[in-house]
Amino acid sequence: LTPIGRERFRPSIHYTAEQNWLNDPNGLLYYKGLYHLFYQYNPRGNVWGNMSWGHASSPDLVNWTERPVAIEGDVNEEIFSGSIVVDAGNTSGFGRAGTVPLVAVYTSAFTEQSAFPGVQAQSLAYSLDEGATWAKYEGNPVLNRHSRDFRDPKVFRYEGLSERYWVMVAVEAEDRTVVLYRSDDLREWSFLSSFGPANATGGVWECPDLFPLAVDGDPDRLKWVLIVNLNPGGIAGGSGGQYFVGNFDGTTFTSESTIPKDSEGSGGGQEECNWLDWGRDYYAAVSFSGVPGDKPIMIAWMNNWDYGNDIPTHPWKSAMSLPREVSLITVRGVPRLLQRAIAVVPDPDEVTLAIDHKTVDEGAESLPEECWGSVLHIEAALTPGTAREIGLIVRGGRGEGTFIGYDVETGSVFVDRRHSGDVDFHPDFASKERAPADLTGGKIRLRIYVDHSSVEVFAQDGLVTITDQIFPEPSSREIAIYATHGSGAIDSLRIYNLERTTTP
Ligand code: FRU
Repeated sequence: LTPIGRERFRPSIHYTAEQNWLNDPNGLLYYKGLYHLFYQYNPRGNVWGNMSWGHASSPDLVNWTERPVAIEGDVNEEIFSGSIVVDAGNTSGFGRAGTVPLVAVYTSAFTEQSAFPGVQAQSLAYSLDEGATWAKYEGNPVLNRHSRDFRDPKVFRYEGLSERYWVMVAVEAEDRTVVLYRSDDLREWSFLSSFGPANATGGVWECPDLFPLAVDGDPDRLKWVLIVNLNPGGIAGGSGGQYFVGNFDGTTFTSESTIPKDSEGSGGGQEECNWLDWGRDYYAAVSFSGVPGDKPIMIAWMNNWDYGNDIPTHPWKSAMSLPREVSLITVRGVPRLLQRAIAVVPDPDEVTLAIDHKTVDEGAESLPEECWGSVLHIEAALTPGTAREIGLIVRGGRGEGTFIGYDVETGSVFVDRRHSGDVDFHPDFASKERAPADLTGGKIRLRIYVDHSSVEVFAQDGLVTITDQIFPEPSSREIAIYATHGSGAIDSLRIYNLERTTTP
């Protein structure tokens, strides 16, 4: 039953705005004990439009408080995606009386009535009250290439051996190119270099990011990770994100993960790209600025431009993914991103089901009703054995269920949402997503987060992830285990119900 007062599909463990449309996370920032999540927001409607920056903050990345709209669009410009830096040295001069300015670098999508009809250029806004209120800089835009597709600036402080300066990574979206600029004061920018097109180029490049990471946690083996979101052309169809691992010398990013173009019938395939996520609903992923420690934290928009405006939710539309801590580990000689979700840590006493070593016969077996639920944290280690497919069915109910499992023939983890509930609101929504995953010790390990309208699957400790929205009946809470064409085993299974630990 729908808990009283709960809006249909409203997530419990994912951020949504109280009302209206949102898309990309923007200006992700940790400052003075608070995580700030700004985002593409329509203050006046439940579909894309009137783009402004919405705002929420959180002490722990789990509990979010929505705050007043931060930066609003007007007759001259819509406020597109961008980032925020803490200008500790007041290089921008926006600081007053010792107050450190927070400086937002955003894309002005200039309207036809403006002085730059149809142009996208980079602009500044600043806050002198820790992000609560923002003033646009009167000298905007600060970086104008007179392009219609120059957007999504991510700015960070580069600390070279002898020099420190601001670096901006942005995109020329249609050219599938990342462009890099530098500045001493955030107001004047000079061109450094460009990167791309490379690897996945089936859609426009958007929302780039660039950050250093130690390979296998070894500070002497520092690599730089370039994030490039693209739409369409994602691995699962529509919007998706890829990453490149390489080096950045303060001027140029050089990739070590560029796939040579298909010269002799091999290579250059989509499968070989480094995908941030193999599902359909993980887009515009970027990282926080100012996070203590050495592991970046990323958040994505949990939706897809293929059908984003049409998902059956109101008066809100679109949630953010769970925040993810990322690191780099070597897999078969190649550095790969490992992702770990940040969510409510379940209390071990609250486990609703714990099974070790149990045979899974061919067919589906419903698990005890005590463990059923709509908001779940599941840890599973499964051995396929002689089965062709082994997995779980979550959010099961009359004629519906979301299948999450391992397919031996293709060696892949999958999420099948074709029978997950309402899939008819858009012809492109019903889908099955796959991610390649090697078994370890003959087992597939899954960590799964289920919410009222999504599943996020972290397989093999987060080496591959699949994020998909689902729109099941609120009453569909059943969980089952199943195998096809043979029998396998549960090595261990823990199910925690998060409904009790979260507030609706
Ligand atoms: C990505 C994107 C960005 C742009 C924003 C507009 O989803 O298209 O490139 O800045 O959304 O809302």
